[in-house]
Amino acid sequence: MSIIKVEKLTKIYKSHISKPGVLSTIKSIIKPNYVTVKALKEISFSVTKGEMVAYVGPNGAGKTTTSKILSGILYPTSGRVSVMGYIPWKRENNYLSQITFIMGQKTQLWWDIAPMETFLLNKSIYKISESDFEKTLDELTTLLDVKDLVHIPVRKLSLGERMKMELISSLLHKPKVLFLDEPTIGLDLLSQEAIRKFILEYNKSYNATIILTSHYIKDIEIADRIILLYRGEIIFDGNKEEILERFIKKRLVTVTFNTMPEIAKIPYNIISREGQTIEVEIEHKEISKFISFVFKSFDVKDVKNQDMNLEDAIKEGFKNASLY
Ligand SMILES: Nc1ncnc2c1ncn2[C@@H]1O[C@H](COP(=O)(O)OP(=O)(O)OP(=O)(O)O)[C@@H](O)[C@H]1O
Ligand SMILES: [Mg+2]
Repeated sequence: MSIIKVEKLTKIYKSHISKPGVLSTIKSIIKPNYVTVKALKEISFSVTKGEMVAYVGPNGAGKTTTSKILSGILYPTSGRVSVMGYIPWKRENNYLSQITFIMGQKTQLWWDIAPMETFLLNKSIYKISESDFEKTLDELTTLLDVKDLVHIPVRKLSLGERMKMELISSLLHKPKVLFLDEPTIGLDLLSQEAIRKFILEYNKSYNATIILTSHYIKDIEIADRIILLYRGEIIFDGNKEEILERFIKKRLVTVTFNTMPEIAKIPYNIISREGQTIEVEIEHKEISKFISFVFKSFDVKDVKNQDMNLEDAIKEGFKNASLY
């Protein structure tokens, strides 16, 4: 069952452009100059309960715009969206109390006070009971290993510690749908890993639905499904196997022989040879045919398929899209 439904969602931003000079200022009062940016062009997708989707695209693709619309911060220009049956931008309390939107680039915590103060504020905003609050806070601070830091002013915390507090603050009300916009941006490798593990854990233990945006491949890899957004359009929607198959057309296969055959007898694209080992570049669909050919024809010791790389597939997807 779909928990998020997006149909032909379009967002056009209209911005005023101001040119320098008094004359153009006067002109622009009489006839304003606008530029329009089509940030989302009729995108459609749906997400089922408990699914974790990586929402991936180059800078300016429209990812944050999508998350803002889905979390009710922004109106769309056209199209339909429903999340758990709600229309996000109506901003009904019942809706807002079941979701959260976390932006890695922006802190929602109060700078000069301790995270705990913000947690308590959220407790009263979301009407969380004393016992639920205690329990969830204990769970989250333990999982993220920041128990001792909740009373230190936010400005004194490191970026990673702040991000962890951000997560706690946004999850105290145990939202069912999470929009995470670059939650690991700028964090060191260990902190990134901690946040990733935490997100996965939250997804599994609460069966929460998560849309996760990131430019880091390791974040993308934790998702069940990947949506690629390119200049406001969805160019791919599927799982990891599907994305590899779609965008990686050729693979390297390494064959080691017991007895080296004549190269001329191997009618494939051999790109290197070292001792008894050759490397062959081969189309996806030809691989099984090739492997059975070498085993049948020669004395083979070992065949290795190069691992396909998710990052390469994503880059290839964007490169293809840029050609149209
Ligand atoms: N408030 C705004 N007014 C005008 N244009 C905007 C506004 N917000 C975003 N845009 C434009 O809309 C497009 C999509 O922006 P968005 O922030 O959604 O991209 P993104 O995919 O999140 O990129 P990034 O990876 O850099 O965060 C960009 O071209 C951006 O310049
Ligand atoms: Mg963004």
